Amino acid sequence: MAYRNICNCNNYCVAVVVLFMGVLSSNGAAAASNSFNVMKFGAKPDGKTDSTQAFVKTWASACSSASGQANAVMYVPKGRFLIKAVVFRGPCKTRRVTVRIDGTLVAPTDYWALGNSGYWILFIKVTGVTVVGGSLDAKGAAFWACRRSGKTCPVGARSITFNWANNIVITGLTSINSQQTHLVINSCNNVVVRNVKLIAPSESPNTDGIHVQSSAGVTITGSILQTGDDCISIGPGTTNLHISNIKCGPGHGVSIGSLGKELKEDGVQNVTLTNAVFSGSDNGVRIKSWARPSTGFVRNILFQNIIMRNVENPIIIDQNYCPNNQACPNQSSGVKISQVTFRNIQGTSATAEAVTFDCSPSHPCTGIRLQNIKLTYMNKDATSSCKNIDGTSSGLLVPESCL
Ligand SMILES: *[C@@H]1O[C@H](CO)[C@@H](O)[C@H](O)[C@H]1NC(C)=O
Ligand SMILES: *[C@@H]1O[C@H](CO)[C@@H](O)[C@H](O)[C@H]1NC(C)=O
Repeated sequence: MAYRNICNCNNYCVAVVVLFMGVLSSNGAAAASNSFNVMKFGAKPDGKTDSTQAFVKTWASACSSASGQANAVMYVPKGRFLIKAVVFRGPCKTRRVTVRIDGTLVAPTDYWALGNSGYWILFIKVTGVTVVGGSLDAKGAAFWACRRSGKTCPVGARSITFNWANNIVITGLTSINSQQTHLVINSCNNVVVRNVKLIAPSESPNTDGIHVQSSAGVTITGSILQTGDDCISIGPGTTNLHISNIKCGPGHGVSIGSLGKELKEDGVQNVTLTNAVFSGSDNGVRIKSWARPSTGFVRNILFQNIIMRNVENPIIIDQNYCPNNQACPNQSSGVKISQVTFRNIQGTSATAEAVTFDCSPSHPCTGIRLQNIKLTYMNKDATSSCKNIDGTSSGLLVPESCL
């Protein structure tokens, strides 16, 4: 899906945070401890009372609790907390802030209440933040219905976003029914996402699980992704991303791209996906770019130890990406794809063609490797197709390699 203007909320965010800075220092109660409970700041676990300001104040206290406190905890107890769009901004005086959530954060039922900023829960310029546990319920159904109806709708909110953040851990989080992407990691360094569950119906539009962009050193492991769009989408400027032990489906699979939206675009480099199960997804592992000139590239990628169960396009490189055939650029992709390995991938395809390589005529794919592939379609060998590609294959290969 399209990922532009990911940060255009920024001016608004600054305004919101500055507004509440003044309130914080007056609350001396929490200063004695390095744990800050949202209830002490007025949050109500009834799912009805707007607790946004209580969360903002709690964050600001935890974030500025310096004076020798190297670590602080922002604590959200059991219960349902109604939260509107909220910004947790750094840098903090506190070296590390743990946001421990035992309860559920719920968005307003009226999707207009989150405005047009594109986010619901947003962390900006924070370092050393760990989010542990918790559930997010963005109540996306009404928003998806709005989009389907053709009425005027807001842009929709990503449930939890990290912009310009470093040394982040997100663990044990569950997110359901996001309006847009569940979790966005944008312009970050050193992020671990572990043991998360991101769930939305297969027909929900653009509910990607995790989107990573312009970020380095991201690990995603032990997670369940059931969505209406990509389980994980990997945007320009992603380097050293390691994904392991995930379950994907329903959804559109794990995608590098779409790339080549812009002429000048950063590349994607050093991505590994190891130990994954795809079930009933539209794609398994995919690289996609629009058919137009671009400075982008995809290099040094490894997809290995993967089980496909009834997946429509288990292995696909699509350099003529153009969903719904609308406004297709109809040129030749400038995105240079090289050194991509597909190893130990087996299971069932939901279509006859399980391996599709549709590379750019002007910038053919190079260094593509297939090793030990066994994909069947209705108990018969699946097929494969190759365009503008150079590479090698070894081991057992079903379908027969077209390289
Ligand atoms: C990608 O990985 C290689 C080693 O495989 C390393 O030399 C290179 O620096 C990495 N690229 C980036 C951008 O970190
Ligand atoms: C691209 O090609 C398709 C079919 O080949 C055609 O229907 C469409 O109008 C073309 N789009 C543009 C922008 O030229």
